[in-house]
Amino acid sequence: MKKTTAAITAVGGYVPDFVLSNKVLETMVDTNDEWITTRTGIKERRILKEENAGTSFMAIKAAEDLLQKRGIEASEIDFVLVATATPDMPVASTAAYVASEIGAVNAFAYDLQAACSSFLYGMSTAASYIESGRYKKVLVIGADKMSSIIDYTDRTTCIIFGDGAGAVLFEPNEEGLGLQDEFLRSDGIGRQFLKIDAGGSILPASEETVKNKQHYVFQDGKSVFKFAVSNMADVSALIMERNNLTKDDVQWLAPHQANKRIIDATANRMGIEAEKVLINIDRYGNTTSATLPLLLYDFEKQLKKGDNIIFAAFGGGFTWGSIYLKWAYNS
Ligand code: UT7
Repeated sequence: MKKTTAAITAVGGYVPDFVLSNKVLETMVDTNDEWITTRTGIKERRILKEENAGTSFMAIKAAEDLLQKRGIEASEIDFVLVATATPDMPVASTAAYVASEIGAVNAFAYDLQAACSSFLYGMSTAASYIESGRYKKVLVIGADKMSSIIDYTDRTTCIIFGDGAGAVLFEPNEEGLGLQDEFLRSDGIGRQFLKIDAGGSILPASEETVKNKQHYVFQDGKSVFKFAVSNMADVSALIMERNNLTKDDVQWLAPHQANKRIIDATANRMGIEAEKVLINIDRYGNTTSATLPLLLYDFEKQLKKGDNIIFAAFGGGFTWGSIYLKWAYNS
């Protein structure tokens, strides 16, 4: 019997209209366009300004865009997974709200949190549900409102992050397309380097934690950079080797958009030419769970049926990994 694989059959996306440029950041903190551009590759990022709008606002828009493009009813979806590090609320599932708002009345839904690797891990989860034959239509949304947890007086973090959402639909495939292999890893040593100290079960919110700015992202950038460069490059090279892929067999590298220098190091290690590397960090910054689906959203037209794509991500925790996927359609 032919093996059922899990393929991406549609993509949707949404970024807020408001553009926060390096020039504007120069007026907010002690930084400059030249430093940000050369150290990170970022020129601008999008910020969600709508009042009372959280991550679900963007996730819903990305999902609606996908449904409209794929031409299916939301009621056909079996499972909605929202990959996010910034849920609307700490306890209520953001995915459950998103599923109801888009009309996915026959779906169950939950959130997946693995910092910047949330979407990569979500692809693995979605594919497993499809490959097992249990579900037929799985919607994976990567969405983050990073501006809700960033201190805009801290120049080491506020220049990096942005808001956005991207969505993909996984469906069964009988032609051998879709997810081929994955290599996922984590290491708890990482939480000292990239974290939000307060608001969790160790240090609940208090007057003191607010005063000490402990609800914002803290990042020891240098240390995270070192781990990210070696681990993202290692897993990307490993997945190529394990699948006997030469650089000529790989059409695209879709790397997490955290820093252009980390992306370049990963591509170099794989021997992949610059034209094969999907990049939009210059326009969106690091949107955490949304980076990978937003790449697919932006470059969808260039992806061809049968193309081999290597996804790679690295994030807080630490969490990291790579996925080898064959693209399943021409748009
Ligand atoms: O997505 C999740 C995983 N996250 C990542 O992968 C992020 C990994 N880390 C990074 O991308 C980089 O470490 C950063 C972009 C965060 C920082 O770049 P860096 O080249 O590692 O800079 P640094 O922290 O070593 O700082 C170099 C200098 C310092 O000044 P001194 O001590 O050399 O005088 C900083 O104070 O640059 C200074 N600096 C800045 N200058 C202008 C730090 N931030 C800024 C800034 N503008 N915004």
